[in-house]
Amino acid sequence: MARVALVTGGSRGIGEAISKRLKADGYEVAATYAGNDEAAAAFTKETGIKTYKWNVADYDASKAGIEQVEADLGPIDVVVANAGITRDAPFHKMTPQQWKEVIDTNLTGVFNTVHPVWPGMRERKFGRVIVISSINGQKGQFAQVNYAATKAGDLGIIKSLAQEGARAGITANAVCPGYIGTEMVRAIPEKVLNEVIIPQIPAGRLGEPEEIARCVAFLASDDAGFINGSTISANGAQFFV
Ligand code: CAA
Repeated sequence: MARVALVTGGSRGIGEAISKRLKADGYEVAATYAGNDEAAAAFTKETGIKTYKWNVADYDASKAGIEQVEADLGPIDVVVANAGITRDAPFHKMTPQQWKEVIDTNLTGVFNTVHPVWPGMRERKFGRVIVISSINGQKGQFAQVNYAATKAGDLGIIKSLAQEGARAGITANAVCPGYIGTEMVRAIPEKVLNEVIIPQIPAGRLGEPEEIARCVAFLASDDAGFINGSTISANGAQFFV
């Protein structure tokens, strides 16, 4: 029977590439989205992948949504916590609201996504937890005190979950993408992107969403069973841990 994979933020950006790749690899995939009904409908039409709408920042909504996915597709074997937002501002201008929105979505959202599926994974003695962190959680980033805090927090989450899940056949790993050519990165002012950021990438280009999806596919596979609590950095040599 096909394994079931849940991808949050799975209808756009890096998440879209992950959903498509896991489907191509034979998984039953459920992709969540928060607000863009039109993009989700177009994604389902193109891929045949079912989408579910809930806000990952809301625990009750996440739990109810996950119950619905499991009723439709079966127990979730692979969870990819990918949903994330940016609210960039230099720290002296960052508002408490910008801090809170990013923490709620990017960090609490990971708890809300993984916590409801964890007991089932423990019971069935198999699970793959993959969290999409960021290069900016590893190195920090100008104007991203909020975002970098959440992405560094992801690494604490997977290292702890790895220790808790190992004996139950569950692995927890992170992927740290560098700057990938998605809407999120293209929202950076063009001058900053072209004159500050891209020159910092030795590869001389943005990454492709599919390059991240391939990392996720590997971590989800049986081949990656002894890789636990690790991070794959895919950033074109921009930063080494
Ligand atoms: N490093 C150093 N200085 C920087 C900088 C950087 N990366 N980016 C901007 N600055 C400087 C500017 O040159 C400018 O300096 P001067 O005042 O001397 O001219 C100053 O900071 C800008 O100050 P402002 O008060 O005008 O800034 P602002 O309130 O208009 O904010 C900004 C602008 C939000 C910082 C904008 O420049 C920006 O979005 N920068 C990019 C931030 C970034 O890289 N975000 C990552 C998004 S992608 C992502 O998050 C995905 C992932 O995981 C990789």
